[in-house]
Amino acid sequence: MINRKGIILAGGSGTRLYPLTLAISKQIMPVYDKPMIYYPLYTLMLAGIREILIITTPRDNEIFKNLLGDGKKWGMTIEYKIQESPRGLADAFIVGEEFIGDDPVALILGDNLFYGENLQRILTRASSRVDDATVFGYRVKDPRRYGVVECDAEGNALSIEEKPEEPKSDLAIPGLYFFPKGVSEIAKNVKPSARGEIEITSVQEAYLNDGRLKVEKLDRGMAWFDTGTHDALLETAQFVQTIEKRQGLQVCSPDELAYENGWITRAQLKELAQPFMKTDYGKYLDDLAERKR
Ligand code: G1P
Repeated sequence: MINRKGIILAGGSGTRLYPLTLAISKQIMPVYDKPMIYYPLYTLMLAGIREILIITTPRDNEIFKNLLGDGKKWGMTIEYKIQESPRGLADAFIVGEEFIGDDPVALILGDNLFYGENLQRILTRASSRVDDATVFGYRVKDPRRYGVVECDAEGNALSIEEKPEEPKSDLAIPGLYFFPKGVSEIAKNVKPSARGEIEITSVQEAYLNDGRLKVEKLDRGMAWFDTGTHDALLETAQFVQTIEKRQGLQVCSPDELAYENGWITRAQLKELAQPFMKTDYGKYLDDLAERKR
């Protein structure tokens, strides 16, 4: 059994969301009916990951602890670590070194939302790959804003570039990465880029040069959002609202998934719903426990 761990990077100063984030973390902002961090947490849970580390700024650490606790309510363990300053995404593997130990790990950015029918299958496949690293490729209109990957028909990465002027493909790399054990050592050897950060793309390059970087393409039926600007935040919230209203199904509820994964009992789910009974969210969970859905 693979014991893959998961890290949610919820640091950063969220300057692109000012003044919303002047006094509070970006990843606590509402995305319709849930705090933003519920969505990446759900994605890791969907990959079957039960041991999670949340990396925050010194200022916001307590808020996340208040929100998510030690994870017991969802049959998981959640730990917290502070990142003193935002040194780049690859720093997550240095801050998280002790937590990762000798296990493979998945990293997700705290402002990334994924939604789609095939997601669980794709995530499970990526997670079961223990010797190779996996990134995802998502077609976007303007790949220049992202890390860009080029791959062959077998899903082997051919090139990786961070925010290229002339992208070699239209596949952006979303903020979700699976790495084998030993990634912390690789991160420690990364030299800061021109923008002064230790880039996640440099870590990916190390695996690419070893012929150990796989790409899972996310097809056109999949939704990927990063919610880092005012417009993106609102559009993502509207997406969630639209699906939830139309289908009467929750988008990315960790409470629901903990139950579906068999990590909590029906009685525990019912208990979780109790404080929320004034909301549709609470009623939804209660109905689920009563098997009305
Ligand atoms: C980061 C990564 C980039 C990735 C993007 C996804 O960019 O460096 O490779 O495509 O996240 O959201 P940033 O958001 O830090 O500019």
